[in-house]
Amino acid sequence: MQDSLAVETNQAALALKPSEQAAARGSRRERMLNALNFLPVDRPPVWLMRQAGRCLPEYRALREKHSFRKLIRTPELAAAVTLQPISRFGFDAAILFSDILVVPEAMGQSFRFRDSGGVQMESPIRDLSDIQKLLEVGVSDRLQYVAVALELIKRNLGGRTALLGFAGSPWTLANFMLEGGSAQKFVKARELFMRDRNTYNLLAGKLTAAVTEFLQMQIACGVDAVQIFDSVGGDLPASDFEAASGRWMQSIVSKLNGQAPVIVYSKGTRAWDALAKIGANVIGVDHGIPLADAERRLPRDTGLQGNLDPALLTGAEPATVAAETRRLLELMRDRNGYIFNLGHGVPPSAKMENLEALAATVQNFV
Ligand code: CP3
Repeated sequence: MQDSLAVETNQAALALKPSEQAAARGSRRERMLNALNFLPVDRPPVWLMRQAGRCLPEYRALREKHSFRKLIRTPELAAAVTLQPISRFGFDAAILFSDILVVPEAMGQSFRFRDSGGVQMESPIRDLSDIQKLLEVGVSDRLQYVAVALELIKRNLGGRTALLGFAGSPWTLANFMLEGGSAQKFVKARELFMRDRNTYNLLAGKLTAAVTEFLQMQIACGVDAVQIFDSVGGDLPASDFEAASGRWMQSIVSKLNGQAPVIVYSKGTRAWDALAKIGANVIGVDHGIPLADAERRLPRDTGLQGNLDPALLTGAEPATVAAETRRLLELMRDRNGYIFNLGHGVPPSAKMENLEALAATVQNFV
């Protein structure tokens, strides 16, 4: 991370209305902004990937009445779900309740949920003409329901809790779009990348444009930072990571031009130099590697986020969750730019007492 970027993003954070500035001072939001900008904090901020969703009884109650699609497309409902984990656990950041697949949908490839679990795209992308048909401009017009939801969420957070926006990475979206939905093993995007680089690049370029426009819209709506989910980045051999995934994320980061801090979560990726080159403020680390190892392999001034094993939330006792949480906090003690999170999303079967133990351990860390 360059110093000029830190200064710029910090100025963006300070460009608050006076009323907002007062609310932000000494708040969870300020703690999160400071960590994102590599500044000292009283204790690391905490939020969890998939913090809103099926692990929460209050989410399941809403889900009995409405489909997932209805929840994400109805701003009042998306806002209510976003706020549920904040009310319950007092996390330092809320993340917009939506899905990475709304971008392909806004480009013309809609999806539905399979009865057997997982997602199904309306029709997989088969050839060049399917890629040519994808719309790359006007994505944010078709995602206006997200803008309305963000406005409602911001108003409710009142400047006291940070708000994160997000999108999928071009590589990860390409995998879902070519496979036609969830898959046991994603193979088609890699096949296209190997067989016909120009066609892959056309698709990744269109996705890069669409994701950039969508993230810019979220930033214009006032999110404090954005996370790019490269959930299948680690399926790539390290030698191909930059060409298939990294360079497209780097392009997004450079087009966002420091308007908001960027967190890149690339699950399973061990191509450290290529990861650092993306230029993100913070790298999300999965639980497949000790956090200390990831720290050693990334530049000293990179923010880090992660990486408690999500399986602890279902299988372990609260005392074990608290002990592991404390171990990570001790490891990162006195290191600027550390954000506590899991190594991947909260599992639907996570126990409430374990989430409570995690939140309380971070919040009481001195
Ligand atoms: O983190 C949050 O709390 C914000 C909301 C969020 C969801 N999906 C809600 C969701 C975010 C950030 C995502 C990202 C997402 N979506 C990713 C990347 C992150 C990751 O986990 O690696 C991916 C790969 C998707 C695609 C997706 N969404 C799939 C494959 C599925 C079906 C499988 C599943 O987990 O059910 C979804 C559905 C989905 N997205 C649910 C939620 C809460 C479950 C919907 C329900 O039945 O209620």
